[in-house]
Amino acid sequence: GFFRPVDAATTPTAHLRRLTKISVIGAGNVGMAIAQTILTRDLADEIALVDALPDKLRGEMLDLQHAAAFLPRTRLVSDTDMAVTRGSDLVIVTAGARQIPGETRLDLLQRNVALFRKIVPPVAEHSPEALLLIVSNPVDVLTYVAWKLSGFPSCRVIGSGTNLDSSRFRFLLAEHLDVNAQDVQAYMVGEHGDSSVAVWSSVSVAGMPVLKTLRQSHASFNEAALEDIRRAVVDSAYEVISLKGYTSWAIGYSVASLAASLLRDQRRIHPVSVLARGFHGITDDHEVFLSLPARLGRGGVLGVAEMELTEEEARRLRRSAKTLWENCQLLGL
Ligand code: 2OP
Repeated sequence: GFFRPVDAATTPTAHLRRLTKISVIGAGNVGMAIAQTILTRDLADEIALVDALPDKLRGEMLDLQHAAAFLPRTRLVSDTDMAVTRGSDLVIVTAGARQIPGETRLDLLQRNVALFRKIVPPVAEHSPEALLLIVSNPVDVLTYVAWKLSGFPSCRVIGSGTNLDSSRFRFLLAEHLDVNAQDVQAYMVGEHGDSSVAVWSSVSVAGMPVLKTLRQSHASFNEAALEDIRRAVVDSAYEVISLKGYTSWAIGYSVASLAASLLRDQRRIHPVSVLARGFHGITDDHEVFLSLPARLGRGGVLGVAEMELTEEEARRLRRSAKTLWENCQLLGL
């Protein structure tokens, strides 16, 4: 061959460093957007793709492998069998029936719970130490389902939640203020979906509270105007779905940013779906997952920010929690 070991007596197979493996379950538009963003950001040494459709799966894997000359080296494997995910550090679940135009995320629930019964137990068995990141919708309820079905501690089960909604919120505010979205601190919390809560009281740019300034300069900045912007954030997903049939690029970047914070132990704060009982007056017997700003690192959710919410914001959050809890109760898990 081209190469000869320096010491013929030993085969240089042992890796000094443990390799990082990410599995993506579901090779649809969302799964592939996530996989390709993870590749370009060089977050994994190995990516395993799983899908129920073998031809589509192999096609997607080959198409990404053919970019090898332009990317950091990442081993790509794929299989319809969940065993290919063995030894993952992070498993990202995107599989699921997708929202059809006009359908709410909660409408999808029963279809996707049945699917999760086939996915989550084998994933947990093959990678008992992994972090589980749920993306399929309705994401908050399915994160709860994955927590129950995996038996993992709640700090290792995370839903992508309102990390994306918060980016949409920051984008809209950034356009309005003509600044870079990365300089807008703004959180959407609660349900990833129609009842998400915009935390206006904490929106800031360069450390300056935005709401106060906007109210001083625009007399028209009343509750209705704020609700219009929140509604625009919620509707932007429906708009993309009605225009192109699904959303993919923004969720791809959103989830890759979560993967980076988790696997690289970045301790960044992301609004993601976490076990929220006991926060903001959500009662302790409501085992419900919804998004709150969480500190993410290699161990998963390292802590949840005790945000200061207004009475109204906390009330809305509890209302989302109640709806989500009622949905979870119907599942009998
Ligand atoms: C999104 O918000 C549809 O949940 C998906 O893009």
